[in-house]
Amino acid sequence: MNIGIIGSGAVGQQLAQDLIKHGHNVTLGTRDTSKLSEFSSLNPTVKLASNAAAAKFGEMVLLATHWDGTQNAIALADPQNLAGKIVVDITNPLDFSSGQPALAIGFNTSAGEQVQAWLPDSFVVKALNIITAPAMLNPKTYTGGEPDMFIAGNNQDAKKTVQAFLEGVGWGVVDLGDIAKSRLIEPLAMIWITVGFNSGWTKSNHAFQMLNK
Ligand SMILES: NC(=O)c1ccc[n+]([C@@H]2O[C@H](COP(=O)([O-])OP(=O)(O)OC[C@H]3O[C@@H](n4cnc5c(N)ncnc54)[C@H](OP(=O)(O)O)[C@@H]3O)[C@@H](O)[C@H]2O)c1
Repeated sequence: MNIGIIGSGAVGQQLAQDLIKHGHNVTLGTRDTSKLSEFSSLNPTVKLASNAAAAKFGEMVLLATHWDGTQNAIALADPQNLAGKIVVDITNPLDFSSGQPALAIGFNTSAGEQVQAWLPDSFVVKALNIITAPAMLNPKTYTGGEPDMFIAGNNQDAKKTVQAFLEGVGWGVVDLGDIAKSRLIEPLAMIWITVGFNSGWTKSNHAFQMLNK
């Protein structure tokens, strides 16, 4: 599949190289390709481009931006380039002002809902925000069984496509419902983040699993 990524931080770079390993064609969107010369020399098959070009390229687009820059990144991508497409929202709306990460929003809205509002003609699916970047497409590296990924979105077909994509790399998938269920998934990320933060980030390789009996 042709996959565009918006945002070239730790998540965007990791996903780009892992998607190539899974056989996809990838364009990594950024405001400044010049800062990615080292990444590019290590990953020559990942195309670097503007956010708009990455959005245009992707049959599916992964949104991997710092929360504070997300609205701007979407504007630069141009919502027209994302119309009718699945946009996987990986962001967590974090506020670091107290010295430790907290959610900036959550009771009345969520990042997933904001992104859907900024992209009214796209099919936004919340996913992949509850684990560390290197694990996103490598869930089989966890010990203790198949971990679960929680997803939310308004469009059933888009969620089925994302579910198949995630199951294809080894996630169990739990569909929680419409995009407003991001209000549950983003706080779940805070458990992953808080355990990591409290350990001085010596612990970040934990994931979640729904147990049944
Ligand atoms: N790090 C993880 O393991 C992890 C795990 C789960 C979820 N997340 C979430 O995933 C998202 C990406 O994480 P990250 O660690 O890669 O974040 P990051 O390095 O802080 O930022 C990612 C990218 O956001 C873009 N960005 C920042 N400010 C912007 C602005 N004003 N306008 C447009 N674009 C802007 C930049 O892309 P360009 O400079 O390329 O334009 C930047 O490289 C975050 O929301 C994070 O909470 C992260």
